[in-house]
Amino acid sequence: MTPQGHGEPAADADTVPWQGSEISGGTVLGPAVQARDIHGDVYLGTGPPTPFRMPVPAQLPPEPALFTGRSRELATLNGLLAGEDPARPVTIIALTGMPGVGKTTLATWWLRQVRSNYPDGELFADLGGHMRDAPVGPGEILAAFLRALNAPPSRPGDLEELAGAWRTATTGRRLIVLLDNAASAAQARALLPAGGPSLVVVTSRCTPSALALDGARFTRLGPLDEPAAAGLFGLVLGDDRAAADPGAARAVARLCGCLPLAVCVAGARHALSPWRTAAQIAGELASEQHRLASLTVPGDLSVRAAFDSSCQRLPPDAARMYRLASLLPAGEFSAEQAAAAAATDPHQAACLLDLLTEASLLDEEPASRRYRFHPLIRLHARGQAKDIEPAAEREAVAARCTGWRPQAAVAGLAVIPGSYRLSSSAGPVTRTRSRAPPRPSVTSRHPARRSAPQPVPDRLIRRRPAER
Ligand SMILES: Nc1ncnc2c1ncn2[C@@H]1O[C@H](COP(=O)(O)OP(=O)(O)OP(=O)(O)O)[C@@H](O)[C@H]1O
Ligand SMILES: [Mg+2]
Repeated sequence: MTPQGHGEPAADADTVPWQGSEISGGTVLGPAVQARDIHGDVYLGTGPPTPFRMPVPAQLPPEPALFTGRSRELATLNGLLAGEDPARPVTIIALTGMPGVGKTTLATWWLRQVRSNYPDGELFADLGGHMRDAPVGPGEILAAFLRALNAPPSRPGDLEELAGAWRTATTGRRLIVLLDNAASAAQARALLPAGGPSLVVVTSRCTPSALALDGARFTRLGPLDEPAAAGLFGLVLGDDRAAADPGAARAVARLCGCLPLAVCVAGARHALSPWRTAAQIAGELASEQHRLASLTVPGDLSVRAAFDSSCQRLPPDAARMYRLASLLPAGEFSAEQAAAAAATDPHQAACLLDLLTEASLLDEEPASRRYRFHPLIRLHARGQAKDIEPAAEREAVAARCTGWRPQAAVAGLAVIPGSYRLSSSAGPVTRTRSRAPPRPSVTSRHPARRSAPQPVPDRLIRRRPAER
């Protein structure tokens, strides 16, 4: 007799470590009694305690249901991983990009593809980097990670002890750690495992450059390509409206700047109104004035809210530059043009533009050192300028920037209060503000390219003595 019945496995061999017993020629697992007759009850001891196994943590977000495109980016990530020194205890990849560009989605998709190389578990934490409140502190996350690894901290309030316990628990373990929405390098650094070796992906709207000191590799994610964005729009609509009018689907993709969040919102808004054609949806998005308002699914998804949350974290002077630079008529602009827009000096302007670039609200073309807003970000920034900047200031930007040319830049510098003045040896400089400037035109495509600005010759500028 056996408690389970002769010949049946007692339980999963993983959880019951007893040896099998030979009874009447057969093997049974678990405690067994062999007797001719039994009178009364039989009591069995429980045997050695069954070891309790914590499940291996599998905290990665669910597989993105409509994952589209990104073959190039996936190849880049695979290349970064393959290029890592295998002796390195932790591979860190920082994935940055503008709000809603698909950082979390790509990281999740990719990590799910490589998870089999990290059998000791997958940990995930949202670091809340762009939430209105302060980002989540490391103590809370370390404690949760340690619990998931069955190494609960004895004194959860003590950060030093938590950090030590985290290093102990992660040494020799092959883990995946996805640190989503990091506010800074310091916030992510406190959560790096000791490694065995492990793989850490940090996603952030800001560039956590200081993670370079920890050996991080950086990759900046841009919008989808147009076919993928149009395909995603069709998938979210969930029927054949996009396939029936591919041109309209591509127009929607373009009007959304191929930003996945915007494309998803455009589709989700109309998924339940099958009578509305793809061309009508594109028509609704055509108005720049109403586009951001259209890219909202009430109470759930909002492109504007995503951009707002990034702007709220900007220092005031960077936020002002964000607003004023968006009023520049050209799609691309230089630091000098931005300086003219904000009536500041080019050095200060470059610093502020760097802040905006680091916050993924602006792109810089490294070769030409020219800047460009994503089209939806630009609409957002212009909306903010309209809401926040007085009309007189907006008019003044138009005046300072109209017909910007190298000489005009010099004239622009001349009106920067307290920063620069023209050298008396520079000769006469025509002030471009002498005639009434037209308002900036949103339709002029690349006027800056037609009159590419040159650096202001140094002889034309004499800094105040204090600045030398
Ligand atoms: N490659 C993709 N395929 C399908 N959907 C995608 C893709 N990339 C992003 N999305 C969708 O776009 C939306 C925004 O993506 P995600 O949340 O990953 O962006 P994010 O860059 O992490 O944004 P945030 O800066 O707000 O954290 C989500 O609804 C997501 O499902
Ligand atoms: Mg995200």
